[in-house]
Amino acid sequence: MVDDLVMRSAGHGDVRALLEFWAAAGENGSRPADRPEAVGRLIDRDPEAILLATAADRIVATIICGWDGWRANLYRLAVAPDLRGRGLGRRMLEQAEDRLRGLGAERFCAMVLDDNDLGTALWRAAGYTRQEDWSRWVKAAGQSAEGARR
Ligand SMILES: CC(C)(COP(=O)(O)OP(=O)(O)OC[C@H]1O[C@@H](n2cnc3c(N)ncnc32)[C@H](O)[C@@H]1OP(=O)(O)O)[C@@H](O)C(=O)NCCC(=O)NCCS
Repeated sequence: MVDDLVMRSAGHGDVRALLEFWAAAGENGSRPADRPEAVGRLIDRDPEAILLATAADRIVATIICGWDGWRANLYRLAVAPDLRGRGLGRRMLEQAEDRLRGLGAERFCAMVLDDNDLGTALWRAAGYTRQEDWSRWVKAAGQSAEGARR
């Protein structure tokens, strides 16, 4: 258990602390650097998308539950390194699932790096299974098709 735990949605005033938290606690491989304006846009678009937990006034866990009206995408599940292994990750995930279920989601989707053993263990323990027949395809928004092929 973690004392004084408060769970709430993140607001614009949390953006700087969120970026610092993710830099220290997130799954940071294989993705572009975070930008405050991108986090702010997400909060504008869906003020309940970023769920965070604080203890003693510091962020100790996060999860993003993205909902576009059809698909439910879970990402940025992260727990402060000194508070791992106490069920906090699982609690964050359960809160996020509750929100998405309430919005009508029928299936939850999580991106996990293949070599992330801790992440894999958590998603598996929560009942998620790895899809073997899909891969993620990406392109930078500013990149042309020709540039992408080079
Ligand atoms: C993955 C992460 C969020 C787990 O958070 P946590 O609070 O430690 O997880 P919990 O204590 O809620 O554990 C949930 C389940 O995960 C698994 N798990 C957690 N830590 C584990 C460990 N060290 N070894 C093996 N399994 C582990 C267990 O199955 C556990 O369930 P159990 O306690 O019933 O056995 C945390 O390690 C983290 O922030 N990692 C860095 C960021 C990251 O990789 N996020 C996932 C992105 S996909």
